[in-house]
Amino acid sequence: MLALGITLLFLAACKKSNRGPQLIEQYGCTTCHTIPGVEGHGAIGPRLEGIGARPAISNGKVPNTPENMAKFIHEPASLNPSSSMPALNIPDADAQEIAEYLRTLK
Ligand code: HEC
Repeated sequence: MLALGITLLFLAACKKSNRGPQLIEQYGCTTCHTIPGVEGHGAIGPRLEGIGARPAISNGKVPNTPENMAKFIHEPASLNPSSSMPALNIPDADAQEIAEYLRTLK
């Protein structure tokens, strides 16, 4: 019974975990950004702490919805043509997971 309980706890923990920080590291976002929970202190782009609580991103030009955040990470210029962030060709699934993580930064 105890083993079952532990297994269920473990499964619940796995389901909740998000690969965001790992993907952010993998794609090198912190070469340009400082992002809570991820190593690195890039200063070329804005700091992303509290980004999940902001009403708009990219100099206030893009409403901060889950769809927009993922799309922006995939290709910034598709939402803000004057964005100085380069397109990194992040696959959609990964961009979505990164966006989910950024939303937790309040
Ligand atoms: C080559 C440098 C560079 C890299 C690499 C980079 N960014 Fe950016 N990013 C920028 C710059 C510059 C801006 C500011 C321009 C803008 O907001 O459109 C920016 C803006 C942003 C914003 C909006 C910030 C705000 O305050 O509104 C988010 C979110 C973001 N980047 C996420 C990411 C993520 C996630 C990655 C990795 C997948 C990444 N960036 C990789 C340079 C970079």
